[in-house]
Amino acid sequence: MSKKPGQVVNQKNNHWQQVYLEKSPSSVSWYQNSPDHSLTLVTKTGISQKAAILDIGCGASVFVDKLLAEGFKDLSVLDISAHALDLIKARLGPSDSAKIEWHEGDITKYSFRRRYHLWHDRATFHFLTTSEDRSAYISNLKQSLLPGGHFILATFAVGGPKKCSGLATVQYDAVRISKELGDGFYLQETIQELHKTPFDTTQLFSYFWFIKKHH
Ligand SMILES: C[S@@+](CC[C@H](N)C(=O)[O-])C[C@H]1O[C@@H](n2cnc3c(N)ncnc32)[C@H](O)[C@@H]1O
Repeated sequence: MSKKPGQVVNQKNNHWQQVYLEKSPSSVSWYQNSPDHSLTLVTKTGISQKAAILDIGCGASVFVDKLLAEGFKDLSVLDISAHALDLIKARLGPSDSAKIEWHEGDITKYSFRRRYHLWHDRATFHFLTTSEDRSAYISNLKQSLLPGGHFILATFAVGGPKKCSGLATVQYDAVRISKELGDGFYLQETIQELHKTPFDTTQLFSYFWFIKKHH
């Protein structure tokens, strides 16, 4: 039986809902006590505390908590799993949760009603294994990021894992990701990280900081 597009979305959604129902935030392989490289790159961009920041595939990450603590005032997060968003809401409590813009949906289908100064994604883009999904993500990125805006992306590096959470992943280096993005962006910096999982194994990640060209 052939799969309809809606069924594929539901399968993706079910997978991630199940992950966040069954596992605690600190027991998933991608868990970070502190997203240090992401925060360093945000600081390096020099954006103001009023800048609009969007975290794609936020999961239960503390990235948004840390940005709040640093005084950033315009924070938005998106995840395909409502359970993941609920984990962040429970951790932040009602007062801080009310300061965040929440988006639940699939980034390859989602429409934002505004534009952002910074788009952050750690370990979501690398799950897009079809060129259609990657193009949909990139056109969303181009539409939703302001000219001169920052794109901070962390993916598995070439030589890093080929699977995560039972799903296939794509590995990137600077050449591969730049080719994928096309010429609307320039690469400002890359960082490699040997991420230590809660199971004492390691995963090679690449961080890329791109700036969207003005035209
Ligand atoms: C490996 S986790 C990373 C979570 C978080 N960024 C971090 O660094 O801890 C990948 C996240 O992407 C979300 N995700 C996967 N596919 C997605 C999609 N198509 N649209 C939106 N979110 C997605 C998952 O629910 C999950 O929270």
